Amino acid sequence: MNETEGQAELLAVDAEYLWHPWSPSRVSPDTLVAVSGEGCEVTDADGRTYLDAKSSGFNATLGYACRPVVDAIAAQVAKLMTYDMGEGANIPAIRLAQRIGELAGPALTRTFFCNSGSEAMEAAIRIARFYQAVLGSPERGLVVSLHNGYHGATMAGAATAGAPSPISDEFTPNGFVTVPGPEEGIGALKGFLTDHGRRTAAVLVEPVQSRGAYVMPEDYLRGVRELCDEHGILLVLDEVTTGFGRTGLMFGYQHAGVQPDILATSKGLAAGYISLGAVTTTQHVFEVFDSNKKMAGFVHGHTHSGHATACAAGLAVIDHIESEQLLANTRARGEQLLAALEPLRELARVTDIRGRGLMIAVEMDRSRRAAQVRKLMRDNGVLVRRTGKNVVLAPPLILTAAEADRISRELLSAAEKAALIEY
Ligand SMILES: Cc1ncc(COP(=O)(O)O)c(C=O)c1O
Repeated sequence: MNETEGQAELLAVDAEYLWHPWSPSRVSPDTLVAVSGEGCEVTDADGRTYLDAKSSGFNATLGYACRPVVDAIAAQVAKLMTYDMGEGANIPAIRLAQRIGELAGPALTRTFFCNSGSEAMEAAIRIARFYQAVLGSPERGLVVSLHNGYHGATMAGAATAGAPSPISDEFTPNGFVTVPGPEEGIGALKGFLTDHGRRTAAVLVEPVQSRGAYVMPEDYLRGVRELCDEHGILLVLDEVTTGFGRTGLMFGYQHAGVQPDILATSKGLAAGYISLGAVTTTQHVFEVFDSNKKMAGFVHGHTHSGHATACAAGLAVIDHIESEQLLANTRARGEQLLAALEPLRELARVTDIRGRGLMIAVEMDRSRRAAQVRKLMRDNGVLVRRTGKNVVLAPPLILTAAEADRISRELLSAAEKAALIEY
């Protein structure tokens, strides 16, 4: 890289060649070109440093330049970058599957690896449909998700968003249905399953919805579990964002004590150091596949399923979460932030504050006002995400008390300023 190039020069090249995900096709002049990072801070090409209160894309759960993870990746890539899992295996994949089984067990034992959250959900959906077919009900193909959920951007992921949605279109695969979530109580899902339960393969739920940090009430999650059991439906918990510590426990489902049949994880698993996703199922789901002599197991996979270097990163991430007691830190910093943001409830323009662990949203009366809060915070060196009317905080789990204090101070000040604007 040419070290003399600043933001403006790099963005000129970007504008000509790069196609960004999730954004207008043209980059804006304030696009942050990240060059380096350390702890919770990231530095742009002009040398300006920001406190990253959104962990890159909710994935940098250990912040930047986490030495043990960097070293584990360097050691593995030098020794054996990967080895194909279709007809073989490698040590990091074996050990990481064992580790996840120990953490998510005793019920959840079997892990299938992929590269991203969308792929994890895609695999979870295929497993659920195959499972029902093997048990003699191929007509059970419907996949039910909740309003405001997000399960990825592949064809199946887009289909779970329901219509109308910016990520689905008329050619989106069918067999996907969305129903109202806890805002309408368990009755909406119950009603749907009373009519269509016998055609349904799986229900997909995020323990905390990544779009706006809506925490699923524990009795709601228990109700979903009961309905799934009653109708022979698999419960898929999408913990792509919540898995591996974000809510203050290793998995979000542990707050309610509700075990899924299939658990999908990704972002926090390799903490943004490398791409990795995982689907962990119960032994029962695995054995149903295994018992089917007509089908050679799960006919699905990716070249990089169980990539050795990615799995080595995953092992180092889990070690670091445990050795640094980051679950306890996540709970403490989350409580600190929620308490410090409490005065915002006085502002008429703030309609809600909610969250769990280090996944917190401040909801404004309008999207434009939330966008303004994001901009004001960024001008003062703190990065947050804006989703609709929500200003979403998802800082790294290594956040210090002083950094949490800075985030809440900047958010209070930005929200107060933005509240004065008449739209
Ligand atoms: C809950 C949830 N599921 C699935 C995904 C998709 O993951 P990916 O972007 O890695 O494909 C995301 C990503 O934001 C997510 O938050």
